[in-house]
Amino acid sequence: MLSLSFFRLVSVVLSLGPIALSAPVANSTEAELALNFLQTWYNSTSGLWDTTGWWNSGNCLTAIGDLAAIDSTVVPTAQQVFSTTIVQAQKYNLQQLKVITPTFNIQTFQGPSFPDAMEAPAVVNPRGFLNGYYDDEQYLQTAMDIFNDIKNSPATPCGGIWWDKKHTYVNAIANELYLSVGAHLANRVPANKTFYLATAQNQYNWFVQSGMVNSKNLINDGLTTACKNNNGTVWSYNQGVILGALSELSTATGNSSYLTLANNIANAAITALSDSNGILHDPCEPNCGGDGTQFKGIFMRNLQVLQKAAPSDRYVKFMVSNGASIWAYDRDSRNALSVVWSGPFVQTANASTQSSALDALIAAQAVGGGKTANLAIASRRAKPIVLEG
Ligand SMILES: *[C@@H]1O[C@H](CO)[C@@H](O)[C@H](O)[C@H]1NC(C)=O
Ligand SMILES: *[C@@H]1O[C@H](CO)[C@@H](O)[C@H](O)[C@H]1NC(C)=O
Ligand SMILES: *[C@@H]1O[C@H](CO)[C@@H](O)[C@H](O)[C@H]1NC(C)=O
Ligand SMILES: *[C@@H]1O[C@H](CO)[C@@H](O)[C@H](O)[C@H]1NC(C)=O
Ligand SMILES: *[C@@H]1O[C@H](CO)[C@@H](O)[C@H](O)[C@H]1NC(C)=O
Ligand SMILES: *[C@@H]1O[C@H](CO)[C@@H](O)[C@H](O)[C@H]1NC(C)=O
Repeated sequence: MLSLSFFRLVSVVLSLGPIALSAPVANSTEAELALNFLQTWYNSTSGLWDTTGWWNSGNCLTAIGDLAAIDSTVVPTAQQVFSTTIVQAQKYNLQQLKVITPTFNIQTFQGPSFPDAMEAPAVVNPRGFLNGYYDDEQYLQTAMDIFNDIKNSPATPCGGIWWDKKHTYVNAIANELYLSVGAHLANRVPANKTFYLATAQNQYNWFVQSGMVNSKNLINDGLTTACKNNNGTVWSYNQGVILGALSELSTATGNSSYLTLANNIANAAITALSDSNGILHDPCEPNCGGDGTQFKGIFMRNLQVLQKAAPSDRYVKFMVSNGASIWAYDRDSRNALSVVWSGPFVQTANASTQSSALDALIAAQAVGGGKTANLAIASRRAKPIVLEG
């Protein structure tokens, strides 16, 4: 999902508003404070975030763009980080090896060297992904290039697209992202809307009958070699990416029926993956490794998109409750945020856990309409918050 994460930047960059004066620190929102701490890991040499991997860095970048889109204080930081990362990251495209366990979980190994007996991955070719241009059109061109790379990939026996270039697995995340990119481009490239929309609709038609969406409206991890639902873990990010994709598809077609499925999945996921206080969890917690720590934020980010297309009080409560819980129970004195959003704060916090929690704080800030959604840092420290019951 590495390249596709970077695609999301396109929409964000295009939606940045005018630069405003910085707000005083005393009035910083929780999301701004969390961003400050995230940036302690930002490495301007690599354009990536130390302590985390390649696709996670795409998510860090996306979070900054998303916050800048609703909070003008953050725009100068976003501009600086985007222009650095778009140039530097391609020079440090990290070699990673991902392995599917027998229970269909993904294990990631960081290069450049790998455990014996493991075949090193092919050298990553960042072809077309990054070039020397900073303007928005080039970001969009990059997204179109990535889309074409996927579109031209060999077919799978199950339909849809492969997860990997070695063709070992057909799974939900790659297919949801492909759908999402197609739908986003349909709304952003008027000259080729027909082409992107047709691809996205085909992908949608395939996805809903692929077997990955189970009878509870939850999405399992992927398909078996016989093209059946593999009953793999119901991860939060697989319930999330589809929400943004369906919201875009609804906009592109003017057909709101896509939002029915989105609402069904969102509600099923909130019910299945929340604790009794309404706080989101993934089954891996607290040992979610390098990838799983990122997932919940992806759900929140896409729920925020769905909220705009199909507003729901339940979603608003959920976003605010999760943001408030993170701030109250999952934070240390530096404003580092960790993996278990209901708390307690567990080591280690890193750029993956931080950016994921940041996504939730951004969603909370967004549904409250910017600064007015400030979760009241001071009062939160003084008294326990009331969570959604
Ligand atoms: C913080 O914001 C409030 C409300 O907008 C304002 O009244 C107050 O003066 C601000 N505080 C500082 C330190 O700027
Ligand atoms: C920043 O990234 C560069 C390039 O990967 C690396 O050599 C350097 O050690 C990193 N800096 C820190 C503080 O990790
Ligand atoms: C539309 O997409 C096709 C296929 O990727 C490409 O060949 C063509 O140049 C695109 N046209 C425009 C106007 O972007
Ligand atoms: C998944 O679970 C369903 C229902 O329990 C079962 O019918 C199906 O055979 C299982 N599939 C696999 C691949 O284990
Ligand atoms: C809207 O989309 C749904 C789902 O693909 C489809 O069944 C329905 O026919 C569409 N309605 C219109 C008016 O195109
Ligand atoms: C980031 O922190 C999480 C949660 O503590 C941990 O599982 C993961 O391994 C860490 N990532 C790295 C690359 O150390």
